[in-house]
Amino acid sequence: MAVLLGGPSAEREVSLSSGRECAAALRQEGYEVVEIDAGADLAARLADAAPDVVFNALHGRWGEDGCVQGLLEWLRIPYTHSGVLASALAMDKEKTKDVYRRAGLPVADSLLCGKAEAMAAHPMQPPYVVKPYNEGSSVGVYLVHESANGPAQLDDAMPDTVMVEAFVPGRELTTSVLGDRALAVTDIITDGWYDYDAKYAPGGSRHVVPADIPSEITGACLDFALRAHQALGCRGLSRTDFRWDEARGLDGLYLLETNTQPGMTPTSLAPEQAQACGMDFGALVRWLVEDASC
Ligand code: DAL
Ligand code: MG
Repeated sequence: MAVLLGGPSAEREVSLSSGRECAAALRQEGYEVVEIDAGADLAARLADAAPDVVFNALHGRWGEDGCVQGLLEWLRIPYTHSGVLASALAMDKEKTKDVYRRAGLPVADSLLCGKAEAMAAHPMQPPYVVKPYNEGSSVGVYLVHESANGPAQLDDAMPDTVMVEAFVPGRELTTSVLGDRALAVTDIITDGWYDYDAKYAPGGSRHVVPADIPSEITGACLDFALRAHQALGCRGLSRTDFRWDEARGLDGLYLLETNTQPGMTPTSLAPEQAQACGMDFGALVRWLVEDASC
């Protein structure tokens, strides 16, 4: 089998880490594994390796957005996780919200606007968040707390069109879905903002799984994550992220996005939730391989 990792996206380092961990676990499970850093020669390297299955451990653009999935369909190589359409939809946070809305799932108000416009004047009443509509791992996410501070000054790496979303105060919750089952709810506790550093620096965040929250909220997260996975047409493993304004109870729970290639180190959120359900990392990667299709 071939594990695809790395790639050219802003989440390259995260993918290298996910891919190496998955490759090691797959070898332990008895698979013969080649690791392929997904570059411009990917099609040739796949033709060379001729794997029976591709384990997709890529994150972000090109690896999580339907592009690599299209190549694998073309080459008729079964691959793990979601297919072309679900990957493309879920990578676009605004299109994802359209799908959520049609499925009756709650989302915070948002709009797309030009980068220059977002820097010139507040596009909505603060507090709000400005983010690329098509990146992961909180790369380029800005929180604008109060009108007094003026709009965010976005860096050059931000795309020309950005997503502006009402900030939901409170807690960061997340729920993975494996096949037709929502696994568990994790409460992600950070000192400040759950940004790239908090996600990946040792000790940057603490994960409480199962989350110590009212059963009504746990039930809603499990239900909403499964419905999001199904509405987007995801396959295999996905992870849906939430914000929960606890002061407002169930009315304060909003879906942010669904990740079709969630982080896959053993201390990443989805593997921790699988573990909480009695499925260790080896069993999880084996399950994904057995679920692969094209
Ligand atoms: N985008 C990162 C890898 C995640 O969602 O886990
Ligand atoms: Mg994401």
